[in-house]
Amino acid sequence: MNVLILGNGGREHAFAWKISQSPKCSQLFIAPGNAGTKLHGENVPIDPLHFNQVKDFCLEKKINIVIVGPEAPLVAGITDYFRNEKELRNIHIVGPAQEGATLEGSKAFAKEFMAEFNVPTAAYGEFTAETKDEGIEFIKKQTPPIVLKADGLAGGKGVLIIDNHQDATIAFGEMLDGQFGKASSTIVIEDFLDGIEFSVFVLTDGKDFKVLPIAKDYKRIGERDTGLNTGGMGAVSPVPFITDAFYQKVIKKVVEPTVRGLEARAMDYKGFVFIGMIKVGEEPFVIEYNVRMGDPETEVVLPRIKSDLLQTFIDLSEGKLNNANIDIKEEAASTIMLVSGGYPENYEKGKTITGHLGIEDSIVFHAGTTEKEGKTLTNGGRVMAITSLAESKEEALEISKRNAEKIKFDGKYFRRDIGFDL
Ligand code: AMP
Ligand code: GLY
Repeated sequence: MNVLILGNGGREHAFAWKISQSPKCSQLFIAPGNAGTKLHGENVPIDPLHFNQVKDFCLEKKINIVIVGPEAPLVAGITDYFRNEKELRNIHIVGPAQEGATLEGSKAFAKEFMAEFNVPTAAYGEFTAETKDEGIEFIKKQTPPIVLKADGLAGGKGVLIIDNHQDATIAFGEMLDGQFGKASSTIVIEDFLDGIEFSVFVLTDGKDFKVLPIAKDYKRIGERDTGLNTGGMGAVSPVPFITDAFYQKVIKKVVEPTVRGLEARAMDYKGFVFIGMIKVGEEPFVIEYNVRMGDPETEVVLPRIKSDLLQTFIDLSEGKLNNANIDIKEEAASTIMLVSGGYPENYEKGKTITGHLGIEDSIVFHAGTTEKEGKTLTNGGRVMAITSLAESKEEALEISKRNAEKIKFDGKYFRRDIGFDL
């Protein structure tokens, strides 16, 4: 099988690392990739949003399977594009068509879907400029904190949680006035859910499904979950508060109805559903759907999978997901993200990274890196995820911390408390 992975982050490095271990993998390409993906395949300078370039490359290299890492190409319809182009029809794509991708691309669409299929989620209202006055009335009736969500993709910044009515009303007006561009022309206002969050990853063909290891990520820049939100500063898997009984609840109340919904709507959905959830008391609620894997969760989920993931993707494409065998390691995984000084606000790129090559007891997944004249340079806010496996998440974290110290670049920062609340 010739495989093309689209994307350039830590998640895509983890996919490249895992897929390259499969005996079924002949040639592996990553577009555009980073300095880490190059260790497992060939990077190709193609923007995943330029579908015609992706097409030409797939035909030239006789690609059999395309794994779409980020959401943007899915929301933009890359799967539909492949289905509609005669020469591309035999190429398998891991990732849903546009209608399915709307579960991530529109929060209002996702809320309507959850309501229809009885998936537990916060009660909500949906408003636009035409219904602004109703939105203001709705806010008055909410008990703070008040949760305002831009409907569309806003680079992870479109959710505001505000602790009084007055500020929430002002923020609501600003969002409708285009604070997040078109993404906030529709706004979802919902009840605040008080609990602990976790991430569930489901691989589905729109009918059957397999659940991957559950993980928890840490989004705030500061230790003990303080400061600004980031793309993710670390993750652990498994998550100790997911007991067997609670896991069964998640499957029955959330995963099964979600997949039944995809089937009932006859969605062309062969890919991941990443369900962002929150445990409130003993009950699971959905915060959001994503139509891709999480980052940095992928960096702890894939290292815990023993079996051949490429074979699982082949089974998925051939409608044999039920026969797929996903073996999970008992060990715990922890990952720590090394980030550039200043992130998630302004930061510099192009800093030389040293010390990452000799590390043997962790897996160093590159996120924002590039290579120039034989040197590895920082190329983003999130630079590298250091993943370790051990009997406990604490031991795994200690190994990751020790190796995080050994890797050096100007301005390096990382959290030392990943998993602190578990
Ligand atoms: P989202 O982009 O929907 O994942 O929201 C970003 C973050 O906002 C989530 O990870 C939660 O921490 C928080 N959040 C979103 N919706 C709610 C809610 N209804 N109640 C409490 N926290 C929420
Ligand atoms: N780690 C959360 C995300 O990938 O959206």
